Amino acid sequence: MARLLFLRPVLLAAAACLSVWMISNAGVAEAGFGYHCDDDNGNDCKSRVASIVTEKLYGDMFKHKDDAACPAHGFYNYTTFLRAAARFPEFGRDGDAATRKREVAAFLAQISHETTGGWATAPDGPYAWGLCFKEEISPPSNYCDASSTRWPCVPGKSYHGRGPIQLSWNFNYGPAGQALGFDGLGNPEVVAADPEVAFKTALWFWMTPRAPKPSCHDVMVGRYRPTDADVAANRMAGFGLTTNIINGGIECGKTGVPQVDDRIGFFRRYCELLGVDVGPNLDCAQQQPYSS
Ligand SMILES: *[C@@H]1O[C@H](CO)[C@@H](O)[C@H](O)[C@H]1NC(C)=O
Repeated sequence: MARLLFLRPVLLAAAACLSVWMISNAGVAEAGFGYHCDDDNGNDCKSRVASIVTEKLYGDMFKHKDDAACPAHGFYNYTTFLRAAARFPEFGRDGDAATRKREVAAFLAQISHETTGGWATAPDGPYAWGLCFKEEISPPSNYCDASSTRWPCVPGKSYHGRGPIQLSWNFNYGPAGQALGFDGLGNPEVVAADPEVAFKTALWFWMTPRAPKPSCHDVMVGRYRPTDADVAANRMAGFGLTTNIINGGIECGKTGVPQVDDRIGFFRRYCELLGVDVGPNLDCAQQQPYSS
């Protein structure tokens, strides 16, 4: 049975911004524990992402992440990003060069929106301020869904937004920890304390399909096959569908949603820096959200 959705309001420093992440609790794929650090050609998996996003480019993308004003300053460094990516060698590996760049741009754009410190007149523009936050400010609750008996909350623990994707709720911390080898229910704090774990939770979310939703990875690399229901709902591949997967219930099927524009703004900037076009279906205004 599909479970509901959740709210994750994040109050950002410069712009009060309601950001919400919804996910279905149904069909959790149990990702393996093993590392697969060779791709099909025997290449070092780490090098695939490193060859797309160089250290210099990473610094240009996240220009202000280490500013003193950013609560996450010093947290999200390049080395740690690559170490986490090595756990998911298919990330940035599938498809032709343009596809691989576009997937990486899409992932970095989505985590940038989730952690943005930007505002309209910010230095270098609003889209130079991704990865500024690592933990939700003033969480309104401990995000414990007590009805999730599979992933019971540990008393005293809070499952508010942490890390690049702002992982939230016990029913996400539990399976993320199981897949990645940390105690998500007993030690959710590690997601905002260990940057490698933090990045891995974001990549786990990106790479893992949770029915009825495909993975964002499959969508961006052309492996997504819409069902009849998806076609009827206009859920066609493109960056907009990753927004629908992440937060469609709030942001999709309507126009004029500022969060959608913020996500697209980051995506356009990163695609430009990577020298790749943004592809089709940038927004999700004409898509129905997933029902859960
Ligand atoms: C990046 O972060 C890791 C983990 O916190 C740390 O061990 C490493 O020294 C950092 N590297 C740089 C270049 O700051």
